[in-house]
Amino acid sequence: MSQVTNTVRFVLDGNIVEAQGERRTTTVLDYLREQLHRTGTKEGCAEGDCGACVVMVGSLNASGKGVDYVPVNSCIQLLPTLDGKSVKTVESLKKSDGSLHPVQQAMVDCHGSQCGFCTPGIVMSLVNLVQVNPAPKRQEVSDALSGNLCRCTGYAPILDAASKACGNKAALKLDDAADVPLLQAIQRASTPTLSLEGDIIVQPVVRTRKGNEFVSPATIAEVADYLVKHPTSTLLAGSTEVGLQVNKQFSRPDHIVYLGNVSELKQVKDTVQAWHIGAVVSLTEVEALVAKAYPDFAEVIRRFGSPPIRSTATLAGNIANGSPIGDSMPCLMALGTTLTLRRGDTTRTVSLDQFYTGQKQTVLQAGEFIEAVVLPKPQASQVFRAHKVSKRFEQDISATCAAITYTLKAGKLSNVKLAYNGLAPSPCRAPKLEAVLEGKAPTDVKEADLDAAIAASFVARDGLRATWAYRSLVARNLVLDFIEQQTTEVA
Ligand SMILES: Cc1cc2nc3c(=O)[nH]c(=O)nc-3n(C[C@H](O)[C@H](O)[C@H](O)COP(=O)(O)OP(=O)(O)OC[C@H]3O[C@@H](n4cnc5c(N)ncnc54)[C@H](O)[C@@H]3O)c2cc1C
Ligand code: FES
Ligand code: FES
Repeated sequence: MSQVTNTVRFVLDGNIVEAQGERRTTTVLDYLREQLHRTGTKEGCAEGDCGACVVMVGSLNASGKGVDYVPVNSCIQLLPTLDGKSVKTVESLKKSDGSLHPVQQAMVDCHGSQCGFCTPGIVMSLVNLVQVNPAPKRQEVSDALSGNLCRCTGYAPILDAASKACGNKAALKLDDAADVPLLQAIQRASTPTLSLEGDIIVQPVVRTRKGNEFVSPATIAEVADYLVKHPTSTLLAGSTEVGLQVNKQFSRPDHIVYLGNVSELKQVKDTVQAWHIGAVVSLTEVEALVAKAYPDFAEVIRRFGSPPIRSTATLAGNIANGSPIGDSMPCLMALGTTLTLRRGDTTRTVSLDQFYTGQKQTVLQAGEFIEAVVLPKPQASQVFRAHKVSKRFEQDISATCAAITYTLKAGKLSNVKLAYNGLAPSPCRAPKLEAVLEGKAPTDVKEADLDAAIAASFVARDGLRATWAYRSLVARNLVLDFIEQQTTEVA
């Protein structure tokens, strides 16, 4: 394993690219287009919304002999995150004999493209899908394209193209045999570098003359050590918030600490009582993890952004960012989630419902970070329900998202935990509403009592996405729906 500094090394179609002299905030999209002239990849929105910039990013799989891909919005991914990985762009798909990938050919045959601006992103989303699922259902294709906007063709021919392409299964898999040895050669170190005195030295991927840097540690110990020394550093996980700050607010953090190469943070520790979800486990992985135990939570995640967003975005990033409309937090709060916070060698446990102190304000201290999100497993006879209300079903921001847990004993609600986003400066529990529900039979819960508790709990304010009248009505009706559908006790 070799590591060099001030050079971002990644594999592109059987070659190692060495990017030198780039800024720590150069995006993957800008580098592909401006330096490598891979102009098939387009910039539409530069904020992860339109999908014109989708490329596939590959990493060596667990056996070290193959490549696992994820679709990403290259407009919001920072180039140094590619160090040690591989990239496939729409140009990668053309074979040496000039023939097209079956997805491309089917897009031509089914008239899936008009102006063509969205087409490379759509093709890359579909090619990514068929790498792992060569026979997708129409709904799965539609899900895979939920982050790709096409303003002129309409989606029916594109969906048709996907099913036509899958008729040629043998040709769907990308031939990346030449990439594997190169990925092995540029793999990032998995252990820290130590000085002669045994102190950790975190090597930068990129360092500027001013001493600003992008680091990509391999271990939690390195992250913790670096943050104690540089407490104002920006942590970077999936980059679906930070990438926007770079593009839209021109944020240029002095020190960026990328967590994506810390193998301990990519793990889910499974205990009898809980899943300890490492800080860089992607939402795609969390969706699969909770699908059986908490199907409503999995559905909230399925409607979170789009596949390229969820393939990198993390729970820890959602929580730390602390947006009032963050979608994972109501589910996590209702389920009694705690956070493992680390500063240096010290860890502490904080309940998520005690984490926020105001709008985008948290209890995190300087140099402290979220190491794991501890999600309790279902308890006997516990009911969990959640639902996100937004104008569009997919790729949209919540008007509100609500989640509840309770048990129904002798026909009465007990152990009620109810949480919302979109109603207060941060996602939060709703203790006054919980008190209305606790100990009552679902049929005895009165709308007027819930309305009064909502009025007493939250400051009425209209927002861009919904009026207060709408939000508060929905907040009440979701509770009624959550409890009314449950007529029988859960074993
Ligand atoms: C197109 C688009 C659609 C979106 N849709 C939704 C949606 O439907 N619902 C929703 O809730 N959000 C949505 N988001 C917002 C975003 O995707 C989420 O907040 C996501 O979970 C952020 O995770 P990340 O790993 O990408 O965070 P990053 O961008 O990497 O980081 C976000 C913040 O958290 C900090 N941070 C990251 N990891 C840690 C850690 N371990 N400890 C402490 N601080 C940390 C970072 O420093 C930064 O301040 C969307 C964003 C985009 C661009
Ligand atoms: S340019 Fe629109 S998602 Fe990247
Ligand atoms: S073909 Fe024009 S935007 Fe899709």
